[in-house]
Amino acid sequence: MRFPFDGQRVLVTGASLGIGRAFATRMAADGSDLVLVSRRRIALTTLADELRARYCVEVDVVAADLSLPGAAASLVSTLDRRGLKVDVLVNNAGLGVHGDLAQSRLVTVSQQIGVNVTALTELTTLLLPGMVARRRGTVINVAGTAAFQPVPHMAVYAATKAYVLSFTRALWSETRGSGVRVLAVCPGATDTAFFDIAGEAASVGSRRTPEQVVDSTLRALHSGYPDVVDGTANALLARVASRIPNRLAITLAERSVRPEPFSAVLIS
Ligand SMILES: NC(=O)c1ccc[n+]([C@@H]2O[C@H](COP(=O)([O-])OP(=O)(O)OC[C@H]3O[C@@H](n4cnc5c(N)ncnc54)[C@H](OP(=O)(O)O)[C@@H]3O)[C@@H](O)[C@H]2O)c1
Repeated sequence: MRFPFDGQRVLVTGASLGIGRAFATRMAADGSDLVLVSRRRIALTTLADELRARYCVEVDVVAADLSLPGAAASLVSTLDRRGLKVDVLVNNAGLGVHGDLAQSRLVTVSQQIGVNVTALTELTTLLLPGMVARRRGTVINVAGTAAFQPVPHMAVYAATKAYVLSFTRALWSETRGSGVRVLAVCPGATDTAFFDIAGEAASVGSRRTPEQVVDSTLRALHSGYPDVVDGTANALLARVASRIPNRLAITLAERSVRPEPFSAVLIS
C-alpha cells in the first residue's frame, strides 16, 4: 500500500531504531523528504546517508533529547532556522518502564511522561497550525494497545498511551475538514529494542514487525477512522479490553505483564 507523501517532508521522532526507523525507511522509499529526530546523532546520520543514497531524498538530522523541558520548542526553532516545513509529523519516540510505582525512580517516570506525552503534545501544538494554514498535513501519533486498559506494573506507561489515544481522537475531530489527517496507531508487542528498557515481562503475545506496524498505519490513513490497532489479534484484544468491566480488564492486564518471580527487571 502506497501513500502519496512524495515530495512532502516527514518528521519522524525516534527514527534511530525500531518502528520509527521503519517509518523513515518506508517514507523515503515512497519519495518523501525526511527530518530524523532522536538522541543518537551517529545512528541518525548513518541512516540519513543510507536513505539519501538509496532513495535520492533530502534527509535532515536533529539530535534531541525529547524528555527535556522545552525540547519540542527548541526542535521547532531548529526547523525554522533551517527553513524546513513539516507536512507529516510522526510522533513515534517513546519508552516504557516495567515496575511498580513504589519502587520506581522519579527520573524514569518523568522521562516516560516527557517523551510520550509532553514532547508529543508540544510538537503537535507547534506544527499543526502551519498544516492547517496550508490545508495539508498529517499527524501520526504512536500510542499502543496499552492505551485500552490500565496496566499494573506499567502504570505510567499505559497512562501515557491512554493519553495519546484520547488526545489524538479529540484532535481528529477538531481537524476534520481542515485538510489535516490525524491518526493514532496502536501497536501491540512489536519486535524492537523497546523491551531492552521495558523488560521481557512487558511483552504480551507474539511480536509483529515494525514494517507491519507501518503498513497498518499507511492503510489506515485511507480510512476515516481516528485510530488503528496493528494486527488482527491485537485489535481483538483491544476491543475486548474496552468492553469488559474495568476490574476484569485490570486483572487480566496485571496477569499478562506480571513479573516472573526472581527475574531482574531493568528499571533505568
Ligand atoms: N515495541 C513495542 O512492542 C511497542 C508496542 C506498543 C507501542 N510501542 C510504541 O512505539 C514507539 C516506538 O517504539 P519502538 O518499539 O520502536 O522502541 P525502540 O526500538 O526502543 O525505539 C524507541 C525510539 O525512541 C527514541 N527515544 C527514546 N527516548 C528518547 C528521548 N528521550 N528523546 C528522543 N528520542 C527518544 C529512541 O532513539 P534514541 O535512543 O536514539 O534517542 C528510538 O529511536 C514508542 O512510542 C512505543 O511506546 C512499541
